[in-house]
Amino acid sequence: MINKCLFPVAGYGTRFLPATKSMPKEMLPIVNKPLVQYGVEEAVEAGLTDIGFVTGRGKRPIVDHFDINYELEKEIEGSGKEALLRNVSNLIENNNFSFTRQVHMKGLGHAIHCGQNLMGDNPFAVVLADDLCIADEGDIGVLAQMVKIFDQFRCSIVAIQEVPDEDVHKYGIIAGDDLGNGLFRVHDMVEKPSQDNAPSNLAIIGRYILSPDIFAKIGHTSAGVNGEIQITDALLKQAKEGCVIAYKFRGKRFDCGSIDGFVEATNYVYENIYKKGKE
Ligand code: G1P
Repeated sequence: MINKCLFPVAGYGTRFLPATKSMPKEMLPIVNKPLVQYGVEEAVEAGLTDIGFVTGRGKRPIVDHFDINYELEKEIEGSGKEALLRNVSNLIENNNFSFTRQVHMKGLGHAIHCGQNLMGDNPFAVVLADDLCIADEGDIGVLAQMVKIFDQFRCSIVAIQEVPDEDVHKYGIIAGDDLGNGLFRVHDMVEKPSQDNAPSNLAIIGRYILSPDIFAKIGHTSAGVNGEIQITDALLKQAKEGCVIAYKFRGKRFDCGSIDGFVEATNYVYENIYKKGKE
């Protein structure tokens, strides 16, 4: 059973300055809900009830978001506005939230390693809240799809998507044997390759399920691209020594780490979810 999910949220979000000068990028709203809450809802839908965050300086608003706000709740009692807090209140009451800090910014692999005490010796999911995933109508979310695949393979799983050749340098790129049904057994992966060095155009997006031996692998991974400890490099070790599965997920994904993707997501959620009263 997998029931843990880690959110690395220590990054600065410089692309959104000045908005992110004193506000975490994960708290930017897509319509009326912060990005990070979409991620947590996706995790909870997948049955993951132990939610851990690797935070950093300036990220207190995320911690506060997943706690009650006694004064506010008292203030709006009986006004009809309580409904707006219902979803987040349910998340808070029915799941466990824990927090630790990444003190030095040494990359995504390092951030995940900082979450070792929260995740323990268990398989766990990782969500990068910048990547907003919305399930197709009537379908389950990306993490819920991945949990099913994990149950089948019992090894690390990465979500992938085809990207245009000119975008491969933004992602971890995999190469693998096609097993059918959107599944690939990974034999190579490269973090942010140039177009010439990319082994394919299958890009990892911010959803992972990691088996706990990843911590030892990260511990033995030295800094890679951009001088950062890369999760992609640690995963390649798992792929070479054991097994890593890449999964072409169903559903929509928006790169909310970029202004264009953020605006696209906002328009999509407004038209297809908010206006239809699905929230
Ligand atoms: C990270 C990972 C990369 C992955 C991407 C998905 O990169 O290192 O492998 O493809 O997330 O969003 P970042 O976007 O943090 O530079």
